[in-house]
Amino acid sequence: MKTPTKAVTAFVVAATGLLLASGSLQARQPFTEAELAKQKAELLKMTEQGYNLWHGSLPTMQANGLACGNCHPDASASNPQTFPKFIPSFNRVVTFREMINWCIENPQGGKPLNVNGPEMTAMEAYAFNLHRGIPIEPGLATRQTPSIVVSHGKGFPSKPSGIGQDTKE
Ligand code: HEC
Repeated sequence: MKTPTKAVTAFVVAATGLLLASGSLQARQPFTEAELAKQKAELLKMTEQGYNLWHGSLPTMQANGLACGNCHPDASASNPQTFPKFIPSFNRVVTFREMINWCIENPQGGKPLNVNGPEMTAMEAYAFNLHRGIPIEPGLATRQTPSIVVSHGKGFPSKPSGIGQDTKE
């Protein structure tokens, strides 16, 4: 026979399960205009930080004066929509974030970013936002995306420029 304590425990467990189940069945209300505006503002802030990092705002990302924008102006040829994919030099499938760190460490001779840190999220936000609407083509390594026209900027000069220089108007 069950002791009272066991019965109570069983009831609590069952009730919690029911509550959880009913909660997961309820669809969330659509976002309000205010919530959407806040979400958009947060994403833009992250993308803006990504723009700055892409153009050299964090000195530890390089040791030779290069920034991503020198070789990937407007995030061109970074192809975020093709990741994860097989990269021959790794001899395995890698994530976009790993590839960002590869370019920080190799062409730029810098210190890799924490793959789960806010700077990496910002880098991803910038590159992915500029590739919005570009079809996902997993695995493509040969076709490169052309430079993307950005409404608020002038792109990045092709000659090496000072770290931290912001090319926005
Ligand atoms: C000096 C030029 C140079 C700089 C600076 C540079 N990259 Fe690259 N990047 C390359 C080259 C070359 C490759 C191709 C490497 C390969 O495929 O093995 C590449 C590849 C990539 C790819 C993979 C593209 C694909 O389709 O496979 C990503 C993502 C990328 N770079 C991001 C960055 C980011 C982010 C930065 C700044 C932190 C950066 N790169 C800085 C030259 C550069």
